Amino acid sequence: MERRTFLQNTGTALAGTLLTDNVLAAALAPAKKKRVAMVGTGHRGLSMWGTDVLKEHGDHMEFVGLCDINPGRVETGKKMLGAKCPTFTDFDKMMKQVKPDILIVTTVDATHDEFIVKGLEYGADIVTEKPMTTDEDKCQRILDAEKRTGRKVMVTFNYRFSPHRQKIYEMLRAGAIGKVTSADFHWYLDVHHGADYFRRWHRKREFSGSLLVHKATHHFDLLNWWLESDPEEVFANGQLDFYGKNNSFRHTNCRPCPHKDKCAFYWDMTKDKRLMALYADNEQHDGYLRDGCVWKEDIDIFDKMAVQIRYANQVQVSYSLTTYSPYEGYRIAFNGTKGRLEAWIKEKQPWEEEAFDEIQLTTSFGKRELIRIPNNEAGHGGGDLRLRKQIFAPTGQDPYRQSAGTRDGAMSILVGIAARKSIDSGKPVKIGDLTSLKPQAARA
Ligand SMILES: NC(=O)c1ccc[n+]([C@@H]2O[C@H](COP(=O)([O-])OP(=O)(O)OC[C@H]3O[C@@H](n4cnc5c(N)ncnc54)[C@H](O)[C@@H]3O)[C@@H](O)[C@H]2O)c1
Repeated sequence: MERRTFLQNTGTALAGTLLTDNVLAAALAPAKKKRVAMVGTGHRGLSMWGTDVLKEHGDHMEFVGLCDINPGRVETGKKMLGAKCPTFTDFDKMMKQVKPDILIVTTVDATHDEFIVKGLEYGADIVTEKPMTTDEDKCQRILDAEKRTGRKVMVTFNYRFSPHRQKIYEMLRAGAIGKVTSADFHWYLDVHHGADYFRRWHRKREFSGSLLVHKATHHFDLLNWWLESDPEEVFANGQLDFYGKNNSFRHTNCRPCPHKDKCAFYWDMTKDKRLMALYADNEQHDGYLRDGCVWKEDIDIFDKMAVQIRYANQVQVSYSLTTYSPYEGYRIAFNGTKGRLEAWIKEKQPWEEEAFDEIQLTTSFGKRELIRIPNNEAGHGGGDLRLRKQIFAPTGQDPYRQSAGTRDGAMSILVGIAARKSIDSGKPVKIGDLTSLKPQAARA
């Protein structure tokens, strides 16, 4: 054998051995954990994206940095998580020092864009809480940054993952009522949950974009997802006629309030140890009062809202959001060429063994069927758990198209932003005029 051929052959064999060894070593080595950082260590960040993710996916990920503008809250958060990682109040410092693979954004809504854009530029993929952001310019910045950096933004629409809503998606796709032509969608926040938005930072447009963005982003996303089309034009009405200035007395917040005895909305935060540790104990750093008065005169969001949406596939939607309802829930009805599909959340009755939500299908010239979907799981009917799995242990399967990116994030907030603009101007607003995204009859 010629020397050159021998060297070539032994070289190949050697390379083959090395390759096999490397593959084997890689397979045997413990999988490298995803390096995750979080900005915004408040209630949502620490629970849904903190303790719960660590409990379920701690084998695949680890926290390498926690950041919050409130130095006390970020330290409290670290203790609550039992994390060993460094904490920061300077976001850029965190990103430069810890270089995470994934950045979780759970700050106040109006600040999401800053951290999403910077996070992408620092080379991280982003998991952001809804709403993606609060106005059309910030939305465009996020869309541009994602394109520019080639990194990925995931928007966490947990509502899509509840079994009830998944079943609705399945039935509509299977043509249960033929072609959908219109929908009536009404959401009720009660005097506890609804009132809580008027206690917190959500009560100001500058932080939440109003509940048309902060809260209704969930509902508009569900509509976009169920209808598989993009919203095209929006007209809306909205007023603040219950909370805020609409009361004869008020105070700064509930704990020191002199009107405790006569105020039906008095809320004793001191009974909740976790909230006291996270917020009350850290008030000295930022002055934020978690138990703010629902009658404060600085409240500038609407507490009743009605929105008309025309979709690019010509479906018409009537939507409303009420924030001082005696009970919590929603009702939706889809009208189609072959029938009507109605759905609602049902409260568990004392005599029932398990909780369930309902769907009623009525076919034209046909029959009526009541379908019950068990709803015993915590966290939005088990939706939170399934969403975390989709993000931290993806299987590559997404049969109901539940994972959402920036286009979905944008299309849902743009309905709320357009509704807000429509209320301010008294005119209909076209979604296509707000950003570079153009509505499509069938969603991409
Ligand atoms: N998907 C859901 O069902 C759901 C439920 C609740 C909250 N959320 C979302 O989660 C996010 C957080 O909500 P939350 O209820 O935990 O609010 P929160 O007030 O408890 O937490 C927000 C945290 O962000 C921090 N923060 C604010 N501005 C900051 C800045 N510039 N830099 C760094 N930190 C900053 C605050 O100090 C606070 O600790 C919001 O976007 C909210 O819409 C989603």
